[in-house]
Amino acid sequence: MTKYIVEGGKPLFGEVTISGAKNAAVAIIPAALLVDGVCRIENIPNISDVEMLLNILDDLGAKVRFLTPTSVEIDSRATRSTQVSQELAHKIRASYYLIGALLGRFGEAEVSLPGGCNFGGVRPIDQHVKGFAAMGADVQEGDFIVARARDGRLRGASIYLDVVSVGATMNIMMAAALADGNTTIENAAKEPHIVDLANFLNSMGADIKGAGTDTIRVRGVERLNGGTYAIIPDQIEAGTYMAAVAATGGQVLIRNIIPKHMDCITAKLQEMGVCVIEEDDNLLVRRDGPLQRTNIKTLPYPGFPTDMQPQVTTVLTLAQGTSIVTEGVWDNRYRYVGELCRMGAQVRVEGRAAVIEGVDALHAANVQAYDLRAGAAMVIAALAAEGTSEITNVHYIERGYENFVGKLRALGADIRCAEVTEETAERQIG
Ligand code: EPU
Repeated sequence: MTKYIVEGGKPLFGEVTISGAKNAAVAIIPAALLVDGVCRIENIPNISDVEMLLNILDDLGAKVRFLTPTSVEIDSRATRSTQVSQELAHKIRASYYLIGALLGRFGEAEVSLPGGCNFGGVRPIDQHVKGFAAMGADVQEGDFIVARARDGRLRGASIYLDVVSVGATMNIMMAAALADGNTTIENAAKEPHIVDLANFLNSMGADIKGAGTDTIRVRGVERLNGGTYAIIPDQIEAGTYMAAVAATGGQVLIRNIIPKHMDCITAKLQEMGVCVIEEDDNLLVRRDGPLQRTNIKTLPYPGFPTDMQPQVTTVLTLAQGTSIVTEGVWDNRYRYVGELCRMGAQVRVEGRAAVIEGVDALHAANVQAYDLRAGAAMVIAALAAEGTSEITNVHYIERGYENFVGKLRALGADIRCAEVTEETAERQIG
């Protein structure tokens, strides 16, 4: 087990290059199972969620080969199984995409219920199941999801999502790509990774229109052929570095972003007194004055992303005045607040709102990462706090941030990895 040791209180300066988007990669890799040929996926982030998904594809019989550290070739023609090993599936939340991909290609899938980030609340997949059922699948839910197309192949259907769900939109889109007939997804999610998955599938021969709007139309095709596709840059990774500069002060050029994807985050940081300048596919972020209070509500795209909520709440702990952050996507995503308070933050959670009284400074403490984004928030808090902080459970962070420690060190941060001693590990488990 690894922990991070952070000597905080230093502003960040320099340049950081953003990797491929995690939440696009974790859908596009399973989607490669739909392809009856070879697909080459570029700009793959080097994170543990990707590694786990590639292991699952390999276990199912697909041939997986890295061409460069960021490009992988997947040949799904040799896939021989539609049963995903429980041990592998449990490690990653996004294993639910294997249901849509396997069901779409082979008419059956057996995948154990997903693991991955747990915010302490329920993460239902009823909308995914509703979509598959509408397309003619029998779906049994237990420890495993067992789904079978009644006629051997799914058929197109009209599906209205009761909640705007990223996962259900992508899963249904995958299942529909090879279905017999046309599928319409109404009240679809519009995140950049939805558009990226549609672009990937279309570049392999699918016929998907409307991704990025409320209504997605999929005309099922007989076969996907293969090809080459590059994943978009990670909006949330970029936003996390923006938040880090906002918290510590300094000036950082964030390279390889899509400016449009960053608008919702940029607008809020500007309200907080952070200077953000857009230059082609780069953003220059500078903070040299005091941080101002603001209110934020997380919403589906193009609203402010829930996956930036812990990081931006951390920045607001250092802003002058009272800020309110309202979580509009998940029921419960504030477990990390207790850890922030141990660093001197003044935050109280009232239902879906966090009320933040800005303080002049945070102080160092030993804290733990409760999940991926909460972990990133702990690192940001530790970078801003004077003194030495230790962060444990960093495997959560490594699920979704490529080379987080290395990229921060290149910006002048004093952060390093160390092994967790048995004593600390025991304390944590206890
Ligand atoms: N929901 C349902 N029923 C469903 C599906 C979702 O009620 O069948 C509800 C959820 O409980 C939640 C809301 O709908 O309240 C939105 O959930 P969504 O399905 O959009 O989330 P997800 O697909 O499971 C993805 C990302 C999350 C991100 C959310 C929202 C992946 C692998 N995960 O999850 O990312 O928070 O969309 O944008 O893409 C992260 O990267 O840290 C992360 C947690």
